[in-house]
Amino acid sequence: MIRRAALIPAIAALALLSGCGAKVQSAMDPAGPEAGRIAGLMWFFIILVSVIFVVVMACVLYALFRGPRGIEQEPLERTHAPSTATEEKLTRNVTAATVATVVILFGLLVASVVTGRAISSLGTAKNGITVEVTGNQWWWYVRYPNDIAQWTVVTANEIHIPVGRPVQIRGTSNDVIHSFWVPNLNGKIDLIPSRVTERWIQADRPGRFRGQCAEFCGLQHAHMALWVIADPPDKFQAWMNAQLQAPQPPGDPELQRGQQVFLNHACVYCHTIGGTSAMASVGPDLTHFGSRSTIAAGTLPNTKGNLGGWITDPQNVKPGNHMAVVDIKADELQPLIDYLESLK
Ligand code: CUA
Repeated sequence: MIRRAALIPAIAALALLSGCGAKVQSAMDPAGPEAGRIAGLMWFFIILVSVIFVVVMACVLYALFRGPRGIEQEPLERTHAPSTATEEKLTRNVTAATVATVVILFGLLVASVVTGRAISSLGTAKNGITVEVTGNQWWWYVRYPNDIAQWTVVTANEIHIPVGRPVQIRGTSNDVIHSFWVPNLNGKIDLIPSRVTERWIQADRPGRFRGQCAEFCGLQHAHMALWVIADPPDKFQAWMNAQLQAPQPPGDPELQRGQQVFLNHACVYCHTIGGTSAMASVGPDLTHFGSRSTIAAGTLPNTKGNLGGWITDPQNVKPGNHMAVVDIKADELQPLIDYLESLK
């Protein structure tokens, strides 16, 4: 019986371990120091409480199967109270168990506080960069601020970061409370309207890490995903340089037509495309739309087919979302898609 009871935490541990491997969205696969601390704390908790579970179950089974002892063996004629020796033994055991429980709980508390402090102290690095993230129903506005205005980069739903450098996420919200969570890189940070909250992330290896909104924020909360792409420093710089380029006016007549379709429809009331008259900021900045890997905040891969479906019937892809249905004629759709996808 004891062996069978011991199997339970072993099976639980196996189930957890099977979730380990390299995962694009998993707190079990930390890719940076902050997430590493959190994962370490989690494993400390899991292992310790598993051991406690086994010990407690063993004690319960021992008590159940060892047969009657103690009070039942006392002489019955006087009283049902245990003898002094039994009383002392029980008091000693219960006291020891109580003290052990308090010490263990206090130890877990200290470990948790130490981890919390360590995570926040990582954010004092001098070579860090800042990324502003603003939550919207249901997408992420992303801005790399710079003292020189034209060196500021604005994008959406994808955050490129350089490997090995701390990145300060400065978060806020345009509407309701959202929560920025990229489990491989750090814990959650609430994005609260009219407040700025901060959290540091750092990736120690290149990779693509999926994040998502972790605070219920309305109908499409579950389709509010993002990607953090950790690039080696030179690749990150190349990405940054590409983002800083205003797109050239399209030379191809088909793309020129696509641009006119965009500029002559309601698209311009919500979106920006650098170098054109579209300068609205209700929806994602599309200046380098073609360089992003997903559309609709991580909902679909960024392909021409998906983009066509999204533009034609956004409510079918994300019911309740705030993308307007624009009256695009059949022969206008393909040039528009080609034009948007050409914005690398
Ligand atoms: Cu934004 Cu949930």
